[in-house]
Amino acid sequence: TGPGLFGSRRNSAGFDLTDEADLARIEAARAPHAATLFDARPRLAGPLAGGQRDEIRNPATGAPVGNVIPAAAPDVETALASARVWDAAPAERAEVLRRASDLYEAEFGPIFALLAREAGKSQADAVSELREAVDFLRYYADGAGTLSAPPRGVFTCISPWNFPLAIFTGQIAAALAAGNAVIAKPAEQTPLIATFAVDLMHRAGVPATALQLLPGDGPTVGAALTRDPRVNGVCFTGSTETALMIRRAMAEHLDPSAPLIAETGGLNAMIVDSTALPEQAVRDILASAFQSAGQRCSALRCLYLQEDIAGHVLPMLYGAMDELALGDPWALSTDVGPVIDAEAQAGIRAYVEAARAEGRVLKELAAPAAGTFIAPTVIRVAGIDRMEREIFGPVLHVATFKANEIDAVVDAVNATGYGLTFGLHTRIDDRVQQIVDRIRVGNTYVNRNQIGAVVGSQPFGGEGLSGTGPKAGGPEYLSRFTAHPATHSAP
Ligand code: SER
Repeated sequence: TGPGLFGSRRNSAGFDLTDEADLARIEAARAPHAATLFDARPRLAGPLAGGQRDEIRNPATGAPVGNVIPAAAPDVETALASARVWDAAPAERAEVLRRASDLYEAEFGPIFALLAREAGKSQADAVSELREAVDFLRYYADGAGTLSAPPRGVFTCISPWNFPLAIFTGQIAAALAAGNAVIAKPAEQTPLIATFAVDLMHRAGVPATALQLLPGDGPTVGAALTRDPRVNGVCFTGSTETALMIRRAMAEHLDPSAPLIAETGGLNAMIVDSTALPEQAVRDILASAFQSAGQRCSALRCLYLQEDIAGHVLPMLYGAMDELALGDPWALSTDVGPVIDAEAQAGIRAYVEAARAEGRVLKELAAPAAGTFIAPTVIRVAGIDRMEREIFGPVLHVATFKANEIDAVVDAVNATGYGLTFGLHTRIDDRVQQIVDRIRVGNTYVNRNQIGAVVGSQPFGGEGLSGTGPKAGGPEYLSRFTAHPATHSAP
């Protein structure tokens, strides 16, 4: 049985953070790595040239986490010259990927230490992220046996810092499950976790020529890996702007059949109408906008509240925000950790300052003075059509609408051209179907939060400016990594 939506497949069990025994297990395994200095460097099937060593620091405290030797231009050439498709039967590839998933689960101590210290992940987010990475490995391992088409060849995988383990692993696991050779370029902010993960995959049995790692910057590594004709496909998660740059480079330099599989940004909206349950809506707004410090591409950016209830829902929301704790991301009492680095912090701050100058800041918490924190903030907008860009942090925009304007709101959301996640809170059944039929997004969530898609049961991905599809963690993803993508016929 393949990775059917409701097959016998199980998701990784993870940890229960309300269980003292689980908490103690996590602490015992993580604590020894609380001050370890980790190393990141290219993993090449050939000699390393290497660039200038750099230090990686904890975004919450500034403390050192480790060192990175980035790839230099000759390393990109070495990787391309030594890459070989993974010449093993699908069942063997699946076996190796499953072994890797077991190693990931076994190594939760250093992985949690790295997720917290390098990426500022909260304990809950770290647990979810490891689960998702394990799920991707197992889900695509299951899928390997269902593929009849050969690999495409060499895949470039370019991944983001906000899911430095899960998305990094998911891209690689999919490309490898299909038998490709992978050259992975992790985000500049998170090379340590990427190196750790690649070492686990090699330990599990992925050949050195089938998986190489090139930490480094976009201009040296990313650009070269998207404009070399030896590359047969690119898998990218990151900003819409970068995806467009990659598409242009590929069009100019790569074989026209080379696919770009991209997951990008969003201007994600939620509609809360006057029949919604306010307590539930507030809880789901908080999670959608502020969990992971808003650094999810799925996060809620623009809340549309029906005017009739705005007068009592907004004070409830502000009251609930007052209870949010900012600080040490690993502390269980912390709700909102730091943003990824000082550059991100400065950009978001400048945006909030400009909104404040226009008198549009409705609510703002206080942020800790040290560390790259941004206090959760609510900003008034006339509508999503007035938002120029995605602000990748804990900044929520709010607009109101009148009862007869709900269709216009859906039109405005569609008109942004983005289409990643969308949330709806209503207790009118007919309205759910009407809106779901018209909204053009990848993932719609009704009467719940709009983050945290689950591999295998909630495939994740957008449309329009938000991505190319197919959805990650879904049944159609793998075939894009093969030379003859399956044509899906109706059952
Ligand atoms: N897959 C993540 C989520 O669903 C977003 O990047 O929240």
